[in-house]
Amino acid sequence: MSRRPIIAGNWKMNKDINEAAALINELKPLVEGAEAEVVFCPPYVDLVEAVKLTEGTNIGIGAQNMHYETSGAFTGEIAGEMLTAIGVKYAVIGHSERREYYNETDEAVNKKAIKALELGLTPIVCCGETLEERESGKAEAKVVGQIKEGCKNIDDISKVVIAYEPIWAIGTGKTASKEEADEACGWVRKTIEEMYGKDAAEAVRVQYGGSVKPANVAELMAMPNIDGALVGGASLTADFARIVKF
Ligand code: G3P
Repeated sequence: MSRRPIIAGNWKMNKDINEAAALINELKPLVEGAEAEVVFCPPYVDLVEAVKLTEGTNIGIGAQNMHYETSGAFTGEIAGEMLTAIGVKYAVIGHSERREYYNETDEAVNKKAIKALELGLTPIVCCGETLEERESGKAEAKVVGQIKEGCKNIDDISKVVIAYEPIWAIGTGKTASKEEADEACGWVRKTIEEMYGKDAAEAVRVQYGGSVKPANVAELMAMPNIDGALVGGASLTADFARIVKF
């Protein structure tokens, strides 16, 4: 089965609304006609403008997080319904920074992924190990555990995008080798096969994230288990177009 590549930019806490608009306007013509599905994930406050500016283009807009409840006393949170109401199409879920700084658990990740799908949002579910876990031979167990818990009880797993992001490669300039990245994306796929069967595993798209840049994207994308990239730092300039059009 051929899986359409998906390249997403996670802007993290960067770009105010003016900077976001400028970058989107710069990137729009540069990513036009890309073979890959293209996603920009700006901060919440930029989302309305980002959706407006990308209407009628090949760029989909994603949020960097969402709550699984519809409404209520959750100060500072944003519901998935609020995202769909403004035309957002994707939500990054369980990024390692949210797991580390905001205690996001596999249980919450699972609730968010299920809720996102119910709403018609594409969840981009993140997983990945620390350097310590990799060096002590626990990387596979960590990734498999995150997928088993974070992706359980899902009706149509083929609609979920999974991003394997080794924490030691995020923002460090240290990319996993293409072999390491492919092996770990293979752990993800094997786990999905165990949970949902072979067809589902063949259909699900697995991204690699961690210091992806124009210089290394092509070799990563050439690997059999890697279907896309979730890009942080290198998604913040017009150079991102060179990643999108790897
Ligand atoms: O979600 C993207 C990510 O965490 C990777 O960041 O800056 O290493 O591309 P970066």
